[in-house]
Amino acid sequence: MRPLVAGNWKMNGLTASLAELASLKEGLAVLGPRLGCDVLVCPPASLIAQAAAAAAGAFALGGQDCHPKGSGAHTGDISAEMLKDAGASFVIVGHSERRQHHGESDGDVAAKAQAAWRAGLKAIICIGETEAQRHAGDANDNCGRQLEGSVPGGASAANTVIAYEPVWAIGTGKIPTAADITAMHDHIRSSLVRRLGEGARGMPILYGGSVKPDNAGEILNLPEVGGALVGGASLKAIDFLSIITAISAS
Ligand code: 13P
Repeated sequence: MRPLVAGNWKMNGLTASLAELASLKEGLAVLGPRLGCDVLVCPPASLIAQAAAAAAGAFALGGQDCHPKGSGAHTGDISAEMLKDAGASFVIVGHSERRQHHGESDGDVAAKAQAAWRAGLKAIICIGETEAQRHAGDANDNCGRQLEGSVPGGASAANTVIAYEPVWAIGTGKIPTAADITAMHDHIRSSLVRRLGEGARGMPILYGGSVKPDNAGEILNLPEVGGALVGGASLKAIDFLSIITAISAS
């Protein structure tokens, strides 16, 4: 399974930021055959079409959310079909910032994942426990429930990527121990296989939350970690390339 290193720009990026994508493309060209992973950037929707032109196939583009419907009277929303049309091949659904700030339920996330598939996009379905849940010993149960509710039955290695992002590790500089990441990824894998069958062994499980150039090598080498979903450190090509290089060297 080739790892996936994905950048989530969140609500950051103006046209000037396309220069970072040009630098990323240059850096990937320098790595050439030493590149050991697939690379994805999820910029704000406003930049996807220009980013796809800048990437020229050197890396993939993705959206950060989509509406369950393909079109209609949904002011301010964007459909998976629109993302695909702009040049995306992935879309993140159920990020904790959407769950927390927009009240998205597991059911909403599942509907968005199905919308992604309908449009021909791969869904990156995010799950992760809060700090209180971890302290209460409820991390596994919480993530199990989120998987159950957010990952539709039709999920396969061909259409879905899971991202484990502990809420308390996002943007905080705090990361779980290597043992905790491994244990959670094992738990996610066995839950997926139990529900979806043996085919789910090929479904990538990314880790996300404060992945930086200096910790990427260790995290990405852990068993069952199929790549990373990177926030802040994906905004600058130099940092994102360091993370990509960590996996390429590992
Ligand atoms: P940070 O890498 O900034 O902690 O963000 C992680 C994240 O939320 C990616 O989706």
